[in-house]
This record gives sequence, C-alpha cells and structure tokens, in this order.
Amino acid sequence: MSINQILRTFIISFLLISCSAASPDQAEMIEHEKQTNEQLVDHHSYANSFDVYTTHLHLNISVDFDEEILSGYVVHDIDNVSKTDKMIFDINGLKIEKIVLDDEEVTNFEIGEHDELLGSPLTVDIKPNTKKVQIFYSTPSDAKALQWLNPQQTAGKQYPYLFTQGQAILTRTWIPCQDTPGKRITYSADVEVPDGLMAVMSADNDTVRSADGWYHFEMTNPIPSYLIALAVGDLEFASLGERTGVFTEPSLIDACVYEFADVEQMVIAAEELYGEYKWGRYDIIVLPPSFPFGGMENPKLTFATPTILAGDRSLVSLIAHELAHSWSGNLVTNATWNDFWLNEGFTVYFENRIMEQVYGKEYADMLMQIEYQGLESENEDIIDGEHPEDTHLKLDLQGRDPDEGMTAIAYVKGALFLKTLEEAVGRDKFDAFLKKYFDDHEFETVTTEMFVAYLKSNLLKPNNVEFNVDEWVYGKGIPDNCVKVETDKFELVSDKCDMIVDVDKVSELGIDKDAWTTHEWLHFIRHIPEAATADDLKMLDDEFNFSNRGNSEIMAEWYVISIEKGYHGIDPYMEKFLINVGRRKFLEPIYSALAETDEGLDMARNIYAKARPNYHSISYLTIDEILGWEG
Ligand code: BES
Ligand code: ZN
Repeated sequence: MSINQILRTFIISFLLISCSAASPDQAEMIEHEKQTNEQLVDHHSYANSFDVYTTHLHLNISVDFDEEILSGYVVHDIDNVSKTDKMIFDINGLKIEKIVLDDEEVTNFEIGEHDELLGSPLTVDIKPNTKKVQIFYSTPSDAKALQWLNPQQTAGKQYPYLFTQGQAILTRTWIPCQDTPGKRITYSADVEVPDGLMAVMSADNDTVRSADGWYHFEMTNPIPSYLIALAVGDLEFASLGERTGVFTEPSLIDACVYEFADVEQMVIAAEELYGEYKWGRYDIIVLPPSFPFGGMENPKLTFATPTILAGDRSLVSLIAHELAHSWSGNLVTNATWNDFWLNEGFTVYFENRIMEQVYGKEYADMLMQIEYQGLESENEDIIDGEHPEDTHLKLDLQGRDPDEGMTAIAYVKGALFLKTLEEAVGRDKFDAFLKKYFDDHEFETVTTEMFVAYLKSNLLKPNNVEFNVDEWVYGKGIPDNCVKVETDKFELVSDKCDMIVDVDKVSELGIDKDAWTTHEWLHFIRHIPEAATADDLKMLDDEFNFSNRGNSEIMAEWYVISIEKGYHGIDPYMEKFLINVGRRKFLEPIYSALAETDEGLDMARNIYAKARPNYHSISYLTIDEILGWEG
C-alpha cells in the first residue's frame, strides 16, 4: 500500500466516523471535503507531500558522457507542516548513496518495492524541525528521462548530446523529488559539463559558454517538478527579438532564425489576450530529431523537435502552443494527471487564439479543423477500445501510465469545450473570464472540480447561461452543442479529392499547387477517397513529391495512407524518415499501419532494428509494443 493510499484510507475513515455523528448539513460539508481531498490525491506519486514538502530544490551534478550518468546531489529545502519524522520522495532506478540533514547529520533511509511504472518510494528519516535534506545520488544508464546521444546522432556529428524529458512522471528517474504536479518548487542548479559543451535548463540561461564547464541556473518562479529540464550539447544562441531567442546546434541556427521570425509577435499577442508573461525571457531550444515530442513547455525554454523546421514557417503553431503553456500549465497547473485537459485543452484553445491574432481567422480556422478531424477519429477509436471512459475530459488514470491521457480528448475536446463556451457567452466576456482565471490561480494547481465551480460562479451564473458542463466534463465523446469549425478553403480541397479516382492525369484536378498551404495539403491527403488505388497514389506522388516533401507532417500522413493502399514508392524515404526522426506522434501511426500485414511487419522490424537506437525511451517503449519487439 502506498503512503498516498494509506493517507486516503485514513482521511476517508476519519470522515466516515465524523459523518455518522454529524447533522445533515455537516454531513454534506464533510462529504464535499472528502471528495475534494480525494480529487487532490495524486495516484502517480508516493510522496507524503500533504505532510511535508519541498519549497526549493538545489541540484549539483556532473554530466559524464563516457559512462552516461549524472551524479552529485540534490538539496531539498523543506516545510514540515505536520512535524512528521518521515519524508517520502519519488525515485525510479536512482542509486542513492547517502542522505544528510541540515548539512551535518547522516540519516537513515529506505527504498521501497519497485513498481515498473511509478518507481519506488524513498523514505527518509527526518526530524520535526529538519530544514534541509541533501541526497547524494547517481542515475542508472537507462534512466527514462534521459536521452544520451552519440555524436553521430547529432546534426554536427562531433559532440555528444544529452536532454531530459520530465513530463509526466520521469523527473524521478533523474532527480529524487516529490514528483507530483500538485506541489510547486523553485529551483537552482550547478551543472558541470565536459569541455566545449554548453548546458541549458528551464531557468535563466547564459548565452555563451562558460570557461570552466560549470553552469549555474536559477528558476525563481515556483513550478511543478515535471518542468525541471536540462539539455547539454554543442549549442549556439541567436536572438529572435527583445525577449525571445533560440538555442540549437550551429548548423541549424540560421534555419531556426528564419522559421521563428514571428515568435516575439506571438508573445505580444499572448499577453494582449490573457495578461502579462510572467517568466522573463521566452527562448526555444531546437533539439536533435530523436526528441520524442513535438514540443515541451519547459518554462523559459521550450524544448522543440527539428521536424517543425519546414522551411516555410508552416508548422510554427507548435511554438504558439508551447508558449501558451506559459499560462495554461506552467502558471496554472493541473493538480493531478487526471486533470490533464486543464493543461492541454486550455493550451490548444489559447494556441489557436494566438494563431488567429498573428495570422488571421481563416488560417486559425484551418488549424482548428485539422485538429477536429483528429479528434473525431480518435474519439471513435477510444470508444471502441479498452477504455471508452477515456473520452471524458476528467480521467481516471490510477494504475495506468499518465501518458495514456495524451489523446485528442484532453487536447481538442478540451479546446472545443472552451470554444463552445466562448460562443455561448461571447468573446469579450469569455476572454475577461479566462484572464481572471489565470490571474486568480497563478502559481497554483487546479483540479477539474475547482475549475468547474469557478466557471459556474464567475461566468455562467453571472451571465444567466445554461450550459451542459457535466456532459462535457464527465460524459462520453463530443456533445451535440460542440461549435462547428468549418472553412471554405477546405471545401475546395475536398472537391479536388473527390475527383482523384476519376482522372487520368493530375493536371485534370486543376490544383494550383503553389497556392496551397501545408494545412490544405494535409486535408487533401486525409480525404483521398477509399476507392483510390496504389496507382492513383503514384500519380499524385509523381506530381506533388509527398514522399520526400521535407515537411514532416505531410510526409508522416502520406506514409500512413500509402502503406494502407500498398503504394511502395514511399519505401526508401519512409525508411530514412523512421531512422532519423524519433517523434512518437509520427512513429506510432506509421509502425501501426505497417504492423497490419505480415509483409509490412517484416519491413517494420527490419527498419526498427536500425532505428531503435536513435529513439528516446518514450518512443521505443511504445513502438516495442506495436511490433512485439523483444530485442
Ligand atoms: N506537454 C506536452 C507534451 C507532453 C504531454 C509530454 C504529456 C509528456 C506527457 C506538449 O505541450 C505538447 O502537447 N506537445 C505536442 C505538440 C502540440 C502542438 C500539440 C506534441 O509534442 O506533439
Ligand atoms: Zn501541450
């Protein structure tokens, strides 16, 4: 039984005893409190953070590329509110050497049973008045948060590279901490790296190399542990604007500066919408292609995949998304991973508003419609799958990997809930409400229930608006009153799609290929008719060069439909893509499509043998399962 479970049982039995002796009013209040406590419990952390918690964390570590380990210590400044004599941290695979209290006294600790998903509780003996817990430790060679790249896996091919990915529960694989989004900490760090390399974190960053290999960092705003992040490599910095800039390997810097020309504008737009940017600078680091996500909103320093460098700025909505997290997610944080939609749904909504502000309504509507298409198909899949209740915004991920909540439900159903509310009350009122929500909850964590109560009393009641909030939040699928997202541009594209099977030559489709944007091409690929054959696909590819297009979103979707139709013109390009790119969102559908046939599965396994060493654990653990890979 984890300490959280014990704590919960304790709270519940206490409340039950009190309930039996209470009046109906009191009973109702106690019931309410019981539910509130239950909602705050994080089933993905062992930490006894209700009793004692970290306020500031200081990290002192050396980065050893030869052994691929981090070693050193972490100091937790703690607040022991309940004067307990045990503090429980989360660890996963870490080697703990020694623990010292208040700089002087070595103390006892115990590492509990290891759970594949959650790791282990590290229970440390403390005193009621302990102020500091210093833990000496090192990481194992297979720490899940870390990806160690050899020089061949980088753009420059000369230096090794390291980056971390903390969300959702991986920070505990590189730092012993109370790894729950429900608690916030400030942090500082001293990090030593080998000669010639530069270290950056989700904190204030130097833009030039240090002389002695040591880098010092400060994050003075309180953040949840999943936002602590580090990257080390041959990095260069370029300024994008007054408060914005980009770090990347030298050979990519010009491409980044071109692609991100509008980032400063995005920050300005975001502030106009929902209030001051509270983090000082907004920089981006463009990582090697093995980064398993598109982007990660590490505060002050978004981590991004190089697959958004399309050369035409067409994929920069991803930056708008990560920037929007500076409000939704980083400033106001989901209390547990069951409330993940509060992070992502708000962010997709906000991202779309930034895009509208900077690029206009028509463009933003196209983006939203692309998202909506993704939601419709994923919603069906989830309803037919093992966990149909995953189409509720509020999730129940106890006993499961919180990453399983990373679906279009949290992202797009969440965003459409807000967009539908916006339509119901009008934009002005909705914007004022959201701005106030961010102000009232800044540097706090919020549960779904807290948001729902806030929504009712601050927006719906004052405006006399009836709204099916419960259906949206606790009900299945997409409610009937969901706003319609439509654009004329896509209707034109759909008309062309319908003609594909009837024409002999592409020219008969009458597509002005220079006029279409990435999103029109995506809509086109998605709406290639059922009846189209491999020959039809070859005809399109000969003209539009989708297989080797240089735009990752287009290529990834094209490979999937080509696999389904048995069109093999993609094969060499797809192989190159799969070996180079480690972004899970692209890999998962491609490998899944290949795994549908025996021949495809053979091909997938051959490619995977070469590609797997380039993938982060987040990606290869997913693909191992799809391909039944046992090494
Ligand atoms: N915070 C997420 C990434 C994440 C979610 C990592 C859950 C681990 C667990 C990030 O903001 C994100 O949503 N990234 C998206 C891009 C976005 C434009 C939808 C991605 O990586 O695809
Ligand atoms: Zn996000």
